[in-house]
Amino acid sequence: MIHHMGDESGSQSHVLSVVVCGAAPASSAGTLVREAVSRGWTVQLIVTPSALPFLDVESLGALSGGPVRSQYGKPGDPRSLLPEAIIVAPATFNTINQWALGIADNYALGILAEQTGLEIPVVAIPFVSQALAVRPPFQRSVKALRAEGVSVLLGPGGIEPHPVHTEAEYADAFPWLLALDEVSGMTGFGFADTELALARVTPGAASGHSVWDNV
Ligand SMILES: Cc1cc2nc3c(=O)[nH]c(=O)nc-3n(C[C@H](O)[C@H](O)[C@H](O)COP(=O)(O)O)c2cc1C
Repeated sequence: MIHHMGDESGSQSHVLSVVVCGAAPASSAGTLVREAVSRGWTVQLIVTPSALPFLDVESLGALSGGPVRSQYGKPGDPRSLLPEAIIVAPATFNTINQWALGIADNYALGILAEQTGLEIPVVAIPFVSQALAVRPPFQRSVKALRAEGVSVLLGPGGIEPHPVHTEAEYADAFPWLLALDEVSGMTGFGFADTELALARVTPGAASGHSVWDNV
């Protein structure tokens, strides 16, 4: 059983870590943060060094109300909170492959390396071209992460890879809210109002099982 603990500033509940990687949808990560906060999550933002040029750290931090971390603190600095769930979106080819292999050469990968080994629900939405998605290393990585219990929302019911060099068009349709719905299915927390209503009238709808369980 994992205990989700606060730091020196006090105990916090329903902490959601959001890991943002370096791909076009990163510029609209605020959409996810805003909705997550409105669904009751305390959002803890982690961005890869490659994601930094894609986003506005200051406004993202303002939306989450907390720091945006992209690198390790110094020894003795306050630790980040252990989250109740993690969303990795957009998840790049690079991060998915390194994560699956256990490579931890930046802060985001270090967090994923360690916390995938805990009983923390993790949801990833890749954003990759069709050319990258057909590569055997990528397919092996997705399979390996799923085997570790990571919900990778790729394929039917999730996101489809886009044709090469069309990322600008596809970025606008990035399915941020799918990640939140999936996290709610896995944790039983943070349902949108309509889902909550559905869960009340549909036995099993909020059972913690996911539509992607068998993918
Ligand atoms: C403008 C631009 C768009 C990119 N789009 C993607 C993308 O859609 N998917 C992807 O996997 N990588 C994309 N990349 C490449 C990643 O940013 C690169 O592989 C980087 O090393 C990823 O680092 P990260 O996984 O640590 O975020 C893009 C890079 C740039 C500069």
